[in-house]
Amino acid sequence: MAKRRKNGLYRGISAELSTLMRTGWADTERRDLVLGEQAPYAARRRAELSARFPGERLVIPSGNLKVRSNDDSYPFRPYSGYVHMTGDQARDGALVLEPRADGGHDAFCFQLPRDSRDNDEFWTGPTAELWMGRRRSLAEAERVLGLPCRDVRTATDDLAAGSGAPTRIVRGHDAALEAVLVTDAERDAELEEALSELRLVKDAWELAEMRKAVDSTVRGFTDVVGELSRAVASSERWIEGTFFRRARLEGNAVGYGTICAAGEHATIMHWTDNDGPVRPGDLLLLDAGVETHTLYTADVTRTLPISGTFTPLQRQIYDAVYEAQEAGMAAVKPGAAYRDFHEASQRSLAGRLVEWGFIDGPADRAYELGLQRRFTMAGTGHMLGLDVHDCAQARNGEYVDGVLEPGMLLTVEPGLYFQPDDLTVPEDWRGIGVRIEDDLVVTEDGHENLSAGLPRSADEVEAWMAEFAG
Ligand code: GLY
Ligand code: MN
Ligand code: MN
Repeated sequence: MAKRRKNGLYRGISAELSTLMRTGWADTERRDLVLGEQAPYAARRRAELSARFPGERLVIPSGNLKVRSNDDSYPFRPYSGYVHMTGDQARDGALVLEPRADGGHDAFCFQLPRDSRDNDEFWTGPTAELWMGRRRSLAEAERVLGLPCRDVRTATDDLAAGSGAPTRIVRGHDAALEAVLVTDAERDAELEEALSELRLVKDAWELAEMRKAVDSTVRGFTDVVGELSRAVASSERWIEGTFFRRARLEGNAVGYGTICAAGEHATIMHWTDNDGPVRPGDLLLLDAGVETHTLYTADVTRTLPISGTFTPLQRQIYDAVYEAQEAGMAAVKPGAAYRDFHEASQRSLAGRLVEWGFIDGPADRAYELGLQRRFTMAGTGHMLGLDVHDCAQARNGEYVDGVLEPGMLLTVEPGLYFQPDDLTVPEDWRGIGVRIEDDLVVTEDGHENLSAGLPRSADEVEAWMAEFAG
């Protein structure tokens, strides 16, 4: 927020003030910094990217601040492809892979360096450190990232002068860099696609981060159960705030907008207003994930009876979703088609919906026609990692039409949603929504449910809530 206000109080800077500001500062260069623990992993990821684009120059920006209003900005979140390839989170940076004659690449990073104290920029400039906080020096960044670093303020000139190699840039993150490069939109999209695909299988470092994200999320859900009575006296916002406190204390933030959906709000897939009442007798659908300091996010849902016990109808619907999740999770193993777990869950739910008379059977026909989707709405899961919907730019053949491999990490999240105005179901079913969502990593011989620390069956959920009652 260093951009100066048009109506700032002080319009001029006296020579005396300028001199005063430039003098008397300690040398704060961090000479103790060492290579970051993610650096060797990022180097391996860059080697894989390099192998896909021999002879081409690749530019992967971290992104810039986005204006919220006037001189105020949204919190910065770097482009996930940049984070994955560098382990870095600096804004206004860019990774460049410069092709070598042998087909490989030399990597370097553009970074916004520290401000000099020999001019007024450090306290009056658009990215003034005195206002925005100390940055890393280029030398510090080099030590932490294990990459040569250059001043980003010369990036447009450097890139425009160019090496003559055909160039690709990931678009949509840095307009200034895009403006000086002559690239092709389709070829640029292929770079983004490759960066997405290289995240399909997580390395050991990423899996450890994902465990932290999920463990922290489990604690956040436990916080919420402990505060349910206060939410009843307040609103869904109390739940959102309770989970957010855990996310900010233990991680960077939440990895996506928390869905705190009580009562009929649970039937709205993307309910994030979170301003409704929390009433005993209703269900609470909480879909939330802590994002680690390294920007990996969990994505977990539990549907809880606010009173502590399910009504018979709520339990009937919950059990159907639970069975569908069990069927889906059983299909998560190496060599299985990615579609298998989705199909297993959806077939299970289609069977229940036919049995209840809400869609025409037989169940196989209903599934083939997709009739269950009126009530299941979404797919049964997605890849998870740096983005909640990770790897979203990957080609179909690598993702939704692909095969599961050890190290892939995905959600299994079937649900049933009976809209409040759905005249095809009995009145007491209307306004009920149930989803159960867990985060699974594919192992050598099956899967591990990283979020198994949270109760999942109806009985387990009730027993868990009873611990906090009274
Ligand atoms: N919370 C977003 C999702 O479950 O996909
Ligand atoms: Mn979710
Ligand atoms: Mn999800």
